[in-house]
Amino acid sequence: MRSKILATGSNLPAKILTNADLEKLVETSDEWIVSRSGIRERRIVESADTASSLSLPAAKTALSRANLNPGDLDAIIVATITPDMAFPSTACLMQNMLGCRQIPCFDISAGCTGFVYAMKIADAMITTGQYRNILVVGVELLTKITDWTDRSTCVLFGDGAGAAILAPTDDDTGLLGSYWSADGSFAPLLEMPAGGSRMPASEKTVKENLHTVKMLGNETFKAAVRAMEEASLEGIKSAGLEKADIDWLIPHQANIRIIEFTAKRLGISMDKVIITLEKYGNTSAASVPIALDEAMTSGKIKSGDNVLLVAFGAGFTWGSIVFKA
Ligand code: UT7
Repeated sequence: MRSKILATGSNLPAKILTNADLEKLVETSDEWIVSRSGIRERRIVESADTASSLSLPAAKTALSRANLNPGDLDAIIVATITPDMAFPSTACLMQNMLGCRQIPCFDISAGCTGFVYAMKIADAMITTGQYRNILVVGVELLTKITDWTDRSTCVLFGDGAGAAILAPTDDDTGLLGSYWSADGSFAPLLEMPAGGSRMPASEKTVKENLHTVKMLGNETFKAAVRAMEEASLEGIKSAGLEKADIDWLIPHQANIRIIEFTAKRLGISMDKVIITLEKYGNTSAASVPIALDEAMTSGKIKSGDNVLLVAFGAGFTWGSIVFKA
């Protein structure tokens, strides 16, 4: 038995923050941001928005496209590093908002690799025969933990949510292979230092702006390039495929140069790569499911196509999913 993606959905905030807007906030330029990252604009939430409220429309769209009701769900997994609160989980909050039965609901924290990790967990839950319909969400409101005085990070991030419903299938479509890994020795390169048990929130942590994303961009870039290639090759191998068999590459959207490098190493031309980075920036755990939803609903991905999802993020974590549409 395999698991397959029954349907997807996504939700982006309406408000757009352009590179020109950022030029007014920090010493930067549209030229620098586009040439170093590929980002032109990003979406940004209103202050009342939360991970659960942003995810809800994405989840509802995925459910309705899958012809399922919330009561048909057997589990909810939410990948995020910007949950509504430290606890309870955003997945539990979503269960209540959707009106689901009493089912297992939990969040996972794997940075920008979160959605890929969550898919891998859902796949294992389904293929062991214990669960049928699982809602997997990738959501991030990074602009709520952005240091708007740090030009090296504030130009990169955006907000959004993506969702997918996974369910068992007996046909030859669905998840063919996957890979995941992590190396915690890189943890200090990409982190939010305060707000956990190491540095609980205090007047000092707020004053020092420690509740925001800190990233050593260049070191992270180099590790990302290596890890995206490794995750892609291992995922393809575990699917029993060759590089040439991949019809579509859906990478985490952090930097166009990382994406181009990954595509080149896989021998995939850029017109077979789904890019949303230009308009949404880096939406962390939401970037892969948003790009997946756009690729599925635009009709780019055809029945029988082999699709590779690949991501890299805080931890460091990295991973991939290969599926036949
Ligand atoms: O999502 C999960 C993981 N995240 C990633 O994979 C992101 C990985 N990193 C990156 O995408 C890139 O490293 C960045 C886009 C963040 C930065 O690009 P870079 O080519 O690595 O630039 P850099 O950090 O080496 O900085 C080069 C220069 C520096 O100036 P000096 O020291 O050479 O004079 C920075 O101060 O660019 C300067 N700089 C800026 N200039 C204008 C940094 N940020 C900006 C900015 N505008 N926003």
